Amino acid sequence: MTEGVLRRYAPYLPVGPGTPMISIGEGGTPLIRSRRLEKRFGCQLYFKLESCNPSGSFKDRGMVVAVAKAIEAGSRAIICASTGNTSASAAAYGAHCGLDVYVVVPKGNIALGKMAQALTYGAKVIQVQGNFDDALRMVRALTDRHPLTLVNSLNPHRIEGQKTAAFEIVDDLGDAPDQLFIPVGNAGNITAYWRGFVEYFDAGKAHVKPQMMGFEAEGAAPIVRGQVVEKPETVASAIRIGNPASWQKAEAARDASGGIIDMVSDEQILEAYHLMASEDGVFGEPSSAAGIAGLLKLTRAGWSFAGKRIVCVVTGSGLKDPDTAVRYSTVSLTEIPAKLSALERALGCG
Ligand code: F0G
Repeated sequence: MTEGVLRRYAPYLPVGPGTPMISIGEGGTPLIRSRRLEKRFGCQLYFKLESCNPSGSFKDRGMVVAVAKAIEAGSRAIICASTGNTSASAAAYGAHCGLDVYVVVPKGNIALGKMAQALTYGAKVIQVQGNFDDALRMVRALTDRHPLTLVNSLNPHRIEGQKTAAFEIVDDLGDAPDQLFIPVGNAGNITAYWRGFVEYFDAGKAHVKPQMMGFEAEGAAPIVRGQVVEKPETVASAIRIGNPASWQKAEAARDASGGIIDMVSDEQILEAYHLMASEDGVFGEPSSAAGIAGLLKLTRAGWSFAGKRIVCVVTGSGLKDPDTAVRYSTVSLTEIPAKLSALERALGCG
C-alpha cells in the first residue's frame, strides 16, 4: 500500500499521536529525465511530475496535512478560495474524511477539469463575481468570524506538506539540484520547496541548496513589478493572481537562494506547454509550463545552463484544462470515410 506523505515524512511534519494518518496516495511522484528538450539548454533537465498526485496537482501534499490537522483539532468543515486546484484537492480530502467542503472560485476563470472535480467530489462550489484575490480576501474575513478551517496556503500546515516534494527530489537525485524552476501564483509552493531544501540541508541529507527560479505570468506579475496587480490576466488561469499571500516569503526564498523571480508572457507559456508535451511527453497544465517558459526565455537572453542539474516542477495535469489544450492546438484534425484507401491517402502512402 502507498505510504502517503504523512507516514513517509512524519519526522519532518507536525504529526503527533492524535493526528489521523490519512492518505489517498499523495506524494511519491515521478522525477523523470528529459530526453529531447534538455538538448536546447545543454543541462540535465528533470521534471517533477506533481500532476501524478491523486487530484492531479501538487496541492494534495499540503492538503493531506491541513485536513489531518483540521480533524485533529475537531473541525468538521473546511473552506478555501481557489483558482481551481486547491478546491479540487480540498474537495477530494474532505470527501475522504467526511468533512463539509466549501470552495470559493472566480466565476468563469477556473479550468473545466477542476470544476468537474470539485463538483464530483461533492464540494459546495461558490462562484464569485470577481477574481481570486477577491475570493481569498472574502474567505479570510469569513474564517475570522466563523468556525471553518481555512485550507489555503495561509494555513501553515499546507506549506509543511508541500515541502515534502523537495525532500523527494533530494532522495531521488542523491542531492539537491543546482536550480529549481517553478511557477509562482499565490507564492506558497516556492516558499514550501525552499523550506524543504533548507531542512534537508540542515539535516545533512543534501550538500547544496538550489537556486529558486520562480516565474509569474506577465499579466499577473505583482512580485516582479513590485506592486499589486488589480486586474490580473493570463492564459494560465491557475496563476492568475494579483496579490499573492506568500509574497514576502517568496522574495525571502529567492534572495536566500541567490535565485530570481521573473515573468513569462502567455505566448512563452503556450510555447513551453506545447514543447513539453510534444518533445518530452509531459502534459502539464498551462501554469505548469511557466518554468520551462522561463528556462527558454533566459536561454534566449544569453544565460548559460550548460552542465547544470535542473529540476522543473510540473505542478498540475494538462487534463485539467482541456479547453485551453483544444483552443491552442497547433495540429489540425483530419476526417476520412471508413475506407482503407482513404486512410492510405490521408497518411500519404496511397
Ligand atoms: N501551478 C498550478 C497548477 C497551480 O494550481 C498553482 C496555484 C500554482 C502553480 C502556483 O502555486 O500559488 O503556490 O505559487 N494554484 C492555487 C489554487 C492558487 O487555488 O489552486 P502557488
